[in-house]
Amino acid sequence: MSPTPPAEPPQLALLRERLGGRLAFGGDYNPEQWPEAVWPEDIRLMREAGVNLVTVGVFSWARLEPSPGRFDFGWLDRVLALLADAGIAVDLATATASPPPWLARRHPDSLPVTADGVRLWPGSRQHYCPSSPAYREAAVRMATRMATRYGHHPALALWHVNNEYAAHTDACYCDRCAEGFRRWLRLRYGGVQGVNEAWGTDFWSQRYGALEEVNPPRRAPYSANPGQQLDYRRFMSDAVLECFVLERDVLRRITPQVPVTTNFMGLFKPLDYWSWAREEDVVSHDAYPDLEEVRPELGNALASDLMRSLRHGRPWLLMETAPSAINWRPRNPPKGPGLMRLWAYQSVARGADAILYFQWRASRRGAEKFHSAVVPHGGPDTRVFREVSRLGAELARLTTVPGTRVPAEVALLLAWDSWWALELDSKPSTDLRLLDRITACYTPLWEANLPVDFRRPEDDLSAYRLVVVPNLYLVSDAAAANLVGYVEAGGHLVMSFFSGIVDPGDGVRLGGYPAPFRDLLGLRIAEFWPLREGETLDVVLADGPAGGTASLWAEDISVQGADVLARFASGELAGAPAVTRHRYGSGVATYVGTAPEPGLLRALLLDAAAAVGVRPPVADVPAGVEVVRRGDALFVLNHSGSEARVRLPGRHRSLIDEREVLDELVLAPRGVAVLVEAPALAPGKTISRSA
Ligand code: GAL
Repeated sequence: MSPTPPAEPPQLALLRERLGGRLAFGGDYNPEQWPEAVWPEDIRLMREAGVNLVTVGVFSWARLEPSPGRFDFGWLDRVLALLADAGIAVDLATATASPPPWLARRHPDSLPVTADGVRLWPGSRQHYCPSSPAYREAAVRMATRMATRYGHHPALALWHVNNEYAAHTDACYCDRCAEGFRRWLRLRYGGVQGVNEAWGTDFWSQRYGALEEVNPPRRAPYSANPGQQLDYRRFMSDAVLECFVLERDVLRRITPQVPVTTNFMGLFKPLDYWSWAREEDVVSHDAYPDLEEVRPELGNALASDLMRSLRHGRPWLLMETAPSAINWRPRNPPKGPGLMRLWAYQSVARGADAILYFQWRASRRGAEKFHSAVVPHGGPDTRVFREVSRLGAELARLTTVPGTRVPAEVALLLAWDSWWALELDSKPSTDLRLLDRITACYTPLWEANLPVDFRRPEDDLSAYRLVVVPNLYLVSDAAAANLVGYVEAGGHLVMSFFSGIVDPGDGVRLGGYPAPFRDLLGLRIAEFWPLREGETLDVVLADGPAGGTASLWAEDISVQGADVLARFASGELAGAPAVTRHRYGSGVATYVGTAPEPGLLRALLLDAAAAVGVRPPVADVPAGVEVVRRGDALFVLNHSGSEARVRLPGRHRSLIDEREVLDELVLAPRGVAVLVEAPALAPGKTISRSA
């Protein structure tokens, strides 16, 4: 069962109080784009839609500080007063995500530089270098002014620092960043000697004589040193985090009672969200499932589970999602009727305590004018406004849900530095992408309604019955010992290929792959054997004729104590082990040396889960129906395109509409039910269809 999370920050009490114990519902409100005459209508419609929290000021720096040091808060005073009078709480932005044009004019070096040396221009957003002193000072001044002016405002419930850090500028390669990188390296390695050792600079005559010679991995004739590339990723994540921490510290000093967040973007590679999440009071997340994917709900579930896991099971806030279409993919269809609602419930089921939209009123001008909004260009007499308002009314009834947890018995390991290192160039195959592998492992668990927490390889895993380790290429000594200890103490671990290959400096661990896990897995790997594009290998199970295919990767495994569960049956490695299992200490370690086709991987993972007694909250659920237990509530979501009948022995009560369900729940396509067990008898009443 998920471990007990660390105590909740006391600041969250303010948010809870402002929301009156309800789930938060609302979105990004950008009143500065509209004449003031529109604002009263906004407030009226917000009340109609059940809005209780809006994010204000995210992109309003140029309005708030029209010239350096000259501030104009009048309009924001009036907006916040209207919201406070209406009882609508505010997630107030520090407004530092998009600096006003004067900053770039005064300080051209505050603009970010690409790896090719191109300085990016202002005129869009996020045009700042995270190391720029001018940007940092201006951002801190802005945060200070906001905190001083609004710290005790009756509407203030939460601070929203910046916005989607690194979304567009995921790294800067300017001279200031180079200086920062050198300081960072000195702290990590003590000096140039340590850098030379860690990066193996005797290769290609890269040895540095002084730290001043070290630069960011700017565009070079050929592959840059992998240690340099990896450390630059680490440094950038830290440098951007420093920007957040600078603002947060100002807010904490002036308004210690107000919680602080910044919005994340799911499995976002540039920032190590494990270290980021520790620095904020509550995790918040922006979810834009891709309607061109076959099952966008799969990615939504996965990202939601990560968000819940980042603070060890504590609820998180869905800070942004689209009420319908977005504007920034090649093709941007609307969400069909019921889809927005279904995915919103999916987020709540997986730990969200807020459903907030981007954005409240559709922009008339600018790059996002074709992005959907709660109030579309056509006004409130529209499908989108009606669907949002209806959901607002429904969510207000789920008063027992906020703050509750989603228990999970399976952990899936994720480490950002391993992800970065795995996807650097010059590997056996460029086809190996971590997100694909994580998704491959997550999919059968999600389809089987087995809740999954994400964890770091160094975390205490003893609370989990099953630990899945997808392609953990880079592993520290401590993490390796942790995984070995977990199995030794009785845990069951499933590890997939190309794990345990390098140390934190991207140096190969010698003596036969995967060096730190050879004893644990009872095997040794001589060579990696990546497959050609589109190539598959036959795989047969050792205990029967059944099997299937595998793609992407194979390895030359010789067992040294492990049992062979499956063998390759074609190609150069025909007859060699593909999947093994090894008893170690009181536990079991399964190794998957290839990428089995989905059915095979499903069988492997679900067998492993069943063997350790991991069960879904409800048995025998039809395909396409997601069931999640959160606290006392059972969320049942019908993603399939057809009516679904779910056997639910006993009597349940619907939190959405108070109806009772006896033994069977019938859900329309995209239907949703949130049920609690109901001891009382009310004969003859069933939910035939969740509206
Ligand atoms: C987010 C961003 C918002 C808005 C939205 C559009 O990434 O935070 O400001 O641009 O996308 O989908």
